[in-house]
Amino acid sequence: MSAIIISGKELARTKREGMKQEVEGLTKEGIKPGLAVILIGEDPASQSYVRSKQKSCNEIGIHSELFELPSSTSQEELLTRIQDLNEADHIHGILVQLPLPEHISEDAVIEAIDPSKDVDGFHPINIGKMMIGQESFLPCTPFGIVEMIKSKEIEITGKHVVVVGRSNIVGKPVGHLLLNENATVTYCHSRTKNMKEMTRSADILIVAVGKAHFLDADAIKEGAVVIDVGVNRNSEGKLVGDVVFDRAREVASYITPVPGGVGPMTITMLLHNTIESAKRSIK
Ligand code: GUN
Repeated sequence: MSAIIISGKELARTKREGMKQEVEGLTKEGIKPGLAVILIGEDPASQSYVRSKQKSCNEIGIHSELFELPSSTSQEELLTRIQDLNEADHIHGILVQLPLPEHISEDAVIEAIDPSKDVDGFHPINIGKMMIGQESFLPCTPFGIVEMIKSKEIEITGKHVVVVGRSNIVGKPVGHLLLNENATVTYCHSRTKNMKEMTRSADILIVAVGKAHFLDADAIKEGAVVIDVGVNRNSEGKLVGDVVFDRAREVASYITPVPGGVGPMTITMLLHNTIESAKRSIK
């Protein structure tokens, strides 16, 4: 078997074309969606993500503002900046790029963002609403993963989903979203015993560990759907996922590539949430 590739790149392109039209319509009505992005410090990976977010906003007509602050910025200064943006009518989404310098509390920063502008979906109110199935901003990577699975009309109800990784940004929320879609969900993490036994029982396997080639084909059940969230550089500097793609592809029924898989969907869902927030502001 050679698995069907779920291309996040293609799905993102299609979705963004629709969003561009929607933004044009909203802008004509006088509501131009606006996103504020705050970057603290000079981490090259974060700088690159933030640039990519801005470029994507510009491409579909979303107003974006970037605040690049030095790593010496105090927590108080950052919270004041967030408060100003909470009160700014032309800003519908606020994103503080993580990770933050050690002297700033991630929890305090996330909780300072008005939940109605939390387009990352990280605020405890939004996470709580997601858990009980209420309308909220969904975290972008998990949201993108569910969209990718649905785009291929893959049945989720009753399927055994195994999530490897339990981060607040990806692992935990993606399991809850799929539970809301009636899947039976198992979480695996660094303390899990018999990891391979678990992953081999997955109908849908989501791997979000952040370690190059963490799982090989022998960890995958014949015909499983494999979603690879990892973006790692191998020893040759090439981008690779958490799964050995070439071999896993021979076992899986569907698989996401790296690059061009989950990555492009994360920013797409951020754009979606920003547009949604702008729409909610006129309701
Ligand atoms: N750092 C890595 N991924 C993300 C994300 O989705 N949002 C924010 N704010 N920071 C990140």
